[in-house]
Amino acid sequence: MAGPVTIVGVLVTGTMGAVITQLATQTRHRVFACDLSAEALERDQLYVRDGLVRFARRSAFSEPAAEEHYGRIHWTVDMQEIAAADAAIEVIVEKVEPKKEAFAALDRILPPDALLLTNTSSISITDLASATKRPDRVCETHFFTPPPVREAVEVPRGLLTSDETVERVGVLIESFGKLPVVVNKDVPGFVANRCLVPMLIEASRLLEEGVASKEEIDLLVKKGLGFPIGPFELGDFIGLDVISYVHSELGDPYYTPLRILKEMVRVGHLGQKTGWGFYEHEGEA
Ligand SMILES: NC(=O)c1ccc[n+]([C@@H]2O[C@H](COP(=O)([O-])OP(=O)(O)OC[C@H]3O[C@@H](n4cnc5c(N)ncnc54)[C@H](O)[C@@H]3O)[C@@H](O)[C@H]2O)c1
Repeated sequence: MAGPVTIVGVLVTGTMGAVITQLATQTRHRVFACDLSAEALERDQLYVRDGLVRFARRSAFSEPAAEEHYGRIHWTVDMQEIAAADAAIEVIVEKVEPKKEAFAALDRILPPDALLLTNTSSISITDLASATKRPDRVCETHFFTPPPVREAVEVPRGLLTSDETVERVGVLIESFGKLPVVVNKDVPGFVANRCLVPMLIEASRLLEEGVASKEEIDLLVKKGLGFPIGPFELGDFIGLDVISYVHSELGDPYYTPLRILKEMVRVGHLGQKTGWGFYEHEGEA
């Protein structure tokens, strides 16, 4: 079996990519973080630095350690610079074509043993792997938001993902201090989103029908059912564009995005990342 992953490439560092970068560096991996432009990198750098400082304030590590973690990240806009990575995680927008293009490019750049990992919420891993000449070394690492805080990482395998790759991915996730949970089949939404999306759809349907307000629905789910977060709060946290895409991949008419979700995505009310979703997120965008 190939050796453990110590150098991680992250492509690209949007909402999830930045926090995966933070997680990888604070668990002492060398990280190559790549984004599309210098402007995007500047935003990502601020985000990762803020995250590390917040963790230092919570005493997860000292302030000098936070600086040391930050210093382990090599920032670049040139994908070629990821070439030394043992594994690259693509964290780009939830669309098939850009993800396949990224995988095809990474496949040309990375060493033959390197793992190609995706953080997709719903797109077929097998389809993404078809853009590469190493489908056996392609796998999902589905980090939950925010990755430095959530305990589990879902690890669904594609049709051609080898057992060795699943094992290597498990070791990598453990080296991030997380609990890998392997999913045997490459189905849209995998396990976590198959459980989450119906709840958000049902909650949106109740809201559309005027059965209860979003605050009341969130309150009942939290204080009645004992969930730590309500469906609308979680939807805002994840991003309504991501949720809507999962709907469309699920295919079943029951999962068709409701009008309220479609309209919110159309006007750019995507949740925390745009400052407005089901709730207002002042100063968080
Ligand atoms: N947000 C979540 O809670 C969450 C949870 C699990 C998985 N995911 C998945 O992670 C991935 C990223 O989601 P996000 O929430 O970070 O999205 P985001 O919109 O915050 O970031 C997407 C990134 O993709 C880049 N991008 C856009 N078009 C591109 C292109 N054509 N080529 C290359 N890069 C491009 C953007 O510059 C941005 O940096 C998606 O696959 C999503 O489904 C998200």
